[in-house]
Amino acid sequence: MSERSGTAEELKTARLWLRRPVEADIDVILAVHSDPEACAHNPSDALTRPEEAEELFRRWDRQWEQHGYGYWVVRRQDSTERVGFCGVKPMELHGERVLNLFYRFAPAAWGQGFAGEAATAVTIWASRYVPELPLIARVRPENIASQRVAVRAGLHRARHLDTEGYDGFDWIYVARPERWAP
Ligand SMILES: CC(C)(COP(=O)(O)OP(=O)(O)OC[C@H]1O[C@@H](n2cnc3c(N)ncnc32)[C@H](O)[C@@H]1OP(=O)(O)O)[C@@H](O)C(=O)NCCC(=O)NCCS
Repeated sequence: MSERSGTAEELKTARLWLRRPVEADIDVILAVHSDPEACAHNPSDALTRPEEAEELFRRWDRQWEQHGYGYWVVRRQDSTERVGFCGVKPMELHGERVLNLFYRFAPAAWGQGFAGEAATAVTIWASRYVPELPLIARVRPENIASQRVAVRAGLHRARHLDTEGYDGFDWIYVARPERWAP
């Protein structure tokens, strides 16, 4: 992963380029979030109309303006194909301020290690540049692929933090378990 040179807007991994979303990415935001497979475990994230994708882009962009980081668009380095999204968002978990790790990829790009590669880069970035906020991931119990990505990124299952989420019960994974002693 490249060093952050005064901005978080671009990260590079071995095969991927992560960059801040721009308006021209609204099409891929809609494409991924309107794919039933990509939202099967999180139906509350599903979009159907272009206006909804535009609104989601604006929300992501406001977060970038407010915090200087957010969700990145993930592009392959060997083509112009945008394969998905990965990033972090501040939120509260059990009354504590945390950074939530997010990833969603286009089904056509699944199974090539892209999500694990992007989530690892984002986790390393967050530990270096936002160390004051514990990094967590909220995963639906049936979402094995997402659980594997969290583990691949270095997170650990923290059963005592499991909680209701937007789409039902969520399993919680944390980047530094020692910060969350039961
Ligand atoms: C979860 C998701 C991002 C994984 O993307 P991906 O690019 O296929 O993941 P990777 O290829 O990096 O695989 C990472 C790990 O998950 C495993 N995995 C991937 N798909 C799997 C599946 N369907 N079942 C079981 N394991 C799976 C891989 O074998 C790999 O395991 P390893 O680290 O032990 O080698 C993708 O399935 C997705 O976008 N799902 C919909 C959105 C979503 O659920 N996001 C998470 C919300 S909490």
